Amino acid sequence: MEKSSGKKNTAVFISGRGSNLKSLIKYSKTKKSLIKIVLVISDNSTAKGLYYANKSKINNIFIKYSNKKSFENRLLRLLKRNDIDLICLAGFMKILSGNFIKKFDKHILNIHPSLLPKYKGLNTHYRAIQNKDKYSGATVHFVTEKLDSGKIILQKRVKIFKADSVKSLKKKILKIEHKIYPKAIIRLLTNY
Ligand code: GRF
Repeated sequence: MEKSSGKKNTAVFISGRGSNLKSLIKYSKTKKSLIKIVLVISDNSTAKGLYYANKSKINNIFIKYSNKKSFENRLLRLLKRNDIDLICLAGFMKILSGNFIKKFDKHILNIHPSLLPKYKGLNTHYRAIQNKDKYSGATVHFVTEKLDSGKIILQKRVKIFKADSVKSLKKKILKIEHKIYPKAIIRLLTNY
């Protein structure tokens, strides 16, 4: 549903540092933003990213994960209550069930630090370097039941140099993550 402001009510799910949340908040504050971040959810009470939500006075909630069913039921209630149209996962470390995805029934996006379909899951930078790949990058994709396998919305690559370490590659890729997440949202919401 489109809000009177024309912006999609968005929830961002995090588990840690929150640098992608920070970039999404920055985008949401631009004049032409197509989203309004109304809710930040974390499964980690000490997630650094909560600081950015607080700083921008965005409603943020820590939900303790005891089991998938009760965690997701709580999520669904919150999403409904806040009239959420779009979920952006940003370093969120829990895997959402097919049941949750079906019940929410609107777009759920994720950002992943590799050129999907390469390197689903963790340790993406290490694996790219080990395999002597020439390029790595970041991908924004739809979330489906299968981990890191939904349709790709936007992808950008970076060159891996011989001198690159996991740390330097991670840093380079994070920088492009911050650029492509807002771009992917614009692409999705404008069908461009
Ligand atoms: C990012 O590299 C993202 O691609 C991955 O988890 C990391 C989260 O970083 N899914 P941050 O919490 O957004 O700083």
